[in-house]
Amino acid sequence: MAKIIFNREIDKNIYYLKIAGNYQGLMGQFYMLRGWTTCHPVLGRPFSIFDLDEQAISFIYRVIGEGTQLLSRLRKDDEIELYGPYGRGFPQAKGKIALVGGGVGLAPLYLAARELRKQRSVEAIHTYLGFQENAILIDLFDKVSHRLAIDIGGYISKMVDVNSYDYVFACGPEEMMKAIVEQKKSERPHIFLSLEKRMGCGIGACLSCTCQTSSGNKLTCKEGPVFPGEEIYFE
Ligand SMILES: Cc1cc2nc3c(=O)[nH]c(=O)nc-3n(C[C@H](O)[C@H](O)[C@H](O)COP(=O)(O)OP(=O)(O)OC[C@H]3O[C@@H](n4cnc5c(N)ncnc54)[C@H](O)[C@@H]3O)c2cc1C
Ligand code: FES
Repeated sequence: MAKIIFNREIDKNIYYLKIAGNYQGLMGQFYMLRGWTTCHPVLGRPFSIFDLDEQAISFIYRVIGEGTQLLSRLRKDDEIELYGPYGRGFPQAKGKIALVGGGVGLAPLYLAARELRKQRSVEAIHTYLGFQENAILIDLFDKVSHRLAIDIGGYISKMVDVNSYDYVFACGPEEMMKAIVEQKKSERPHIFLSLEKRMGCGIGACLSCTCQTSSGNKLTCKEGPVFPGEEIYFE
């Protein structure tokens, strides 16, 4: 069990959860969080690592159902179970990089920006964030990006000139990620998408997170959640 440092509502139904401890994890990996002591819901819920250092790990989550409602009730010093890190995250990248997030899909991109900034082979990080109503966490993203573009109420994918980048990392609604992949015109932009499929166990045992790819069905929890964009079959 770990202790909560804070669990703040930063916009309507969106929470910033910070948990004390020295946890491991790479950009794009996720943890299963279980913040309740009741038997139900049985399983924890998957959340991308938003940020990480030697003292704490943090997550950004939207309240949509039972598990996230229970998480939102947690307060400072309450205890929470977390398991991870799980999955394959974003690959190492070089050159010019675009990070594209829709809504809480921004969650894995902050750690990505922080990790990429440390790499000498990275020339520039341009972050594109789209929101339905209110922009969140802009100050944090501004500090780790060479350029930051925000869209509210529109389509963030329209602001990204995908083919002008060496790498594009995206996470958000499927429609947004599909629009990003459809822009690709040459070999150059290596596009990687973080999928937020519904999950059960998080460790490859229940097969509930299967996604269709050009190389067959894959388990999002073990073989993803990050996949090359052109491999994904969108529904
Ligand atoms: C690898 C990964 C990383 C994720 N990272 C984040 C993150 O950083 N922040 C964040 O807010 N969310 C993230 N999610 C989504 C998050 O796990 C779900 O929102 C959460 O599990 C919902 O739990 P719940 O108990 O509140 O909802 P439930 O009570 O389980 O479900 C409520 C409703 O939402 C639907 N639903 C549940 N999960 C999903 C889903 N993944 N996709 C579409 N519909 C769903 C259900 O079908 C149901 O209709 C991530 C998912 C994955 C797989
Ligand atoms: S969540 Fe159980 S196999 Fe992926």
